[in-house]
Amino acid sequence: MIPAPRIGPHQLDGPVVLAPMAGITDAPFRRLCREQGASLAASEMTTADVDLWQTRKSRQRLSLDGDLHPRVVQIAGSEPEQLARAARFVVLRGADIVDINMGCPAKKVCRRLAGSALLRDPELVQRILDAVVSAVPVPVTLKMRTGWDPDNRNGVSIARIAEQTGIQSIAVHGRTRACAYRGKAEYDTIKKIKEAVSIPVFANGDINSPTKAVDVLSRTGADGIMIGRAARGRPWFFSQVLFYLREKKFLSTPASAIQRDIVLRHLDAMYSFYGEQHGVRVARKHLAWYSEHMESGQQIRQRAVRTETASEQMRLIRDIFADRGDGENAESVFGLPGIGASGADIEKENRETQETFEIRSTAGQCAQTSTPGLHGRGRVALLP
Ligand SMILES: Cc1cc2nc3c(=O)[nH]c(=O)nc-3n(C[C@H](O)[C@H](O)[C@H](O)COP(=O)(O)O)c2cc1C
Repeated sequence: MIPAPRIGPHQLDGPVVLAPMAGITDAPFRRLCREQGASLAASEMTTADVDLWQTRKSRQRLSLDGDLHPRVVQIAGSEPEQLARAARFVVLRGADIVDINMGCPAKKVCRRLAGSALLRDPELVQRILDAVVSAVPVPVTLKMRTGWDPDNRNGVSIARIAEQTGIQSIAVHGRTRACAYRGKAEYDTIKKIKEAVSIPVFANGDINSPTKAVDVLSRTGADGIMIGRAARGRPWFFSQVLFYLREKKFLSTPASAIQRDIVLRHLDAMYSFYGEQHGVRVARKHLAWYSEHMESGQQIRQRAVRTETASEQMRLIRDIFADRGDGENAESVFGLPGIGASGADIEKENRETQETFEIRSTAGQCAQTSTPGLHGRGRVALLP
């Protein structure tokens, strides 16, 4: 296995980290992924405008309750002083690392020239990074895309600026802002970025199987990988990827009883974190993602979206797993083969759950194929 990267004073436990995802990587989910082997899990992006931090949404996004160290908080904005002030505040609230979002293509963020829109203005990028790095005593990291659009893949020059200003690691989603989620992630640009800087680089984009993880690491030469959508509804994906990196063998999904306990613990954590009423709503989304990896997932999803209370949701999970046998050695709900199973079996399973489909790209050079398992059943949105 490749050595675990170091970010400033923080020696990570491994090379695989969770990608920040607004609406998904809240404190309960981050904790679960860390327990399953993700060596970092940044918070969902929070506005750098501290005057907006009194809203319930911002308070919850900024909560580091239960997060394991090193704790990473991601901020998004476009004004150097505002970002520097926000960084100081998040450090006071317990962040060990401050991450700056220059990867989000969402219109709401880009209209205000934040997120990936900043890549258009390298001089402003430099001022932002300078301001934030000198404002806090902890490492500052950067999450970026490969550029603004296929004609302006300026990721290498942005990465150089980042290194010069004292940024301590970079995570690169291998698409331009214009490509949103269309096409395939371009790992070649990530490779160029890795070669241009000496700080750790995490490769990100479309890593949805253990073999893909190995492939991306070798194609990019990156120091680590960052996994987002593939972890939804299967936090144990981190253990499977790490196992494959270490042993070159496939690790099956956990036995049914273990999965059931993980999901129940996740539900419980959401009710505690959000309160029952809101927690049940957030949990419906996660149950839908869990169901994507289950046999009869469609029916389970339909039942999950109708649940109204915590006890109904807990009962639903107990029923599903009881139907499938919950002994330690019971066959996994997801039916993947066990340790040492053939790669062909696993790859077939991956293909079946993530059939390739075509998306018409509006940005000429964004490649044409993508995977609905990662995009939510063919829905393509301008998400971060
Ligand atoms: C629903 C959703 C929300 C996201 N929110 C954020 C965010 O808050 N900050 C960020 O830097 N990236 C965000 N991203 C981008 C991911 O971190 C990641 O770069 C992207 O999903 C590609 O990785 P993947 O193919 O492994 O999912 C988000 C992605 C999704 C799908």
